[in-house]
Amino acid sequence: MPSEQPADLSPAAIDRMVAEALAAFAAASSGAELKAARAAHAGERSPLSLANRAIGTLPGPERKDAGQRLGAARAAINTALSAREAEIGAAELQQRLIDERIDVTLPVELGPEGARHPITALIDLMSDVFLDMGWEVAEGPEAEGEWLNFDALNFTPEHPARFTSDTLFVAPLENHVVLRTHTSPVQARSMLTRELPIYVVCPGKVYRADEFDATHVPVFHQLEGLVVDKGITLAHLKGTLDHLASSMFGDGIETRMRPHYFPFTEPSAEVDLKCFVCHGASVGNPDAPCRTCKSQGWIEWGGCGVVNPRVLTACGIDTDVYSGFAFGMGIERTLMFRNNAADMRDMVEGDVRFSRSLKGMAR
Ligand code: DAH
Repeated sequence: MPSEQPADLSPAAIDRMVAEALAAFAAASSGAELKAARAAHAGERSPLSLANRAIGTLPGPERKDAGQRLGAARAAINTALSAREAEIGAAELQQRLIDERIDVTLPVELGPEGARHPITALIDLMSDVFLDMGWEVAEGPEAEGEWLNFDALNFTPEHPARFTSDTLFVAPLENHVVLRTHTSPVQARSMLTRELPIYVVCPGKVYRADEFDATHVPVFHQLEGLVVDKGITLAHLKGTLDHLASSMFGDGIETRMRPHYFPFTEPSAEVDLKCFVCHGASVGNPDAPCRTCKSQGWIEWGGCGVVNPRVLTACGIDTDVYSGFAFGMGIERTLMFRNNAADMRDMVEGDVRFSRSLKGMAR
């Protein structure tokens, strides 16, 4: 046992301990200094603690007195310590608030920000028009079986669309896999896999062996629609297309259906939009020609029709009970008309300034 100095437990000695502790606390000007003062004057090795330990060595009556004095001393020291802790804490907080003050009015420099591609945004907008009516979004692969891309849709084996000059085949040719030339194979997929009735839209990429210029890109996007239900007529198709058109271009938009031929619909039509630029005023008016509609008064938007019963039959659907309609239009074309984006190439280049320039698209 290391011998310790017998502690001085006299009233004067204890008063001195208290006075020294209080002076040290008052002199401390930071949390760290106060911590040191606390260790020195109230810690395990402090005179106070040593004195406390020595009490046991005193004879009975003295022990009681000394105990009371020490108790009072410890209370005084602890009170002073807490008060000083509170003071220093408040002062330090005050100083931190000053030091860490932020000027929220200073201009900030943000890093470059990306934007959603307008085609992606438009696909969502168009799909939402149908989701709001309770339709579903269907998907299919971009590398598609030739049978689904053509045969199931009633294209004859010698149909020119199958030529390698129009369609990109995935090598080797005998695998009969093409990069889908339209989103219509998703019609066949939906009929083969879904329960009736069917109400689906299918947005997606399609591929054609086209040159890349201001009005053509070899990869573009279409939105396909398909309904198969009981009692479906051409009137349902017309109403649906009008609803999509007014959702995309505003309430005043006019559409028309112009007879056409598609192997998978019968009757078939192309759907046109009234020219946004001349509103038809250029027709038969050589003095005011319109470049947008080539003075036709209408611009082609997509194809549509009543689903050919041969297609329903190929997909195992009873044509005595069910009928349907389908449509498909270019999403790039829709963007061109809707947002006055004249050059297809802007849509492929991925320049964020193009995305930002189209109001309401780069959400
Ligand atoms: N698949 C056609 C195309 O790419 C567009 C089309 C026409 C889709 C008529 C249809 C439709 O669903 O009924 O040109």
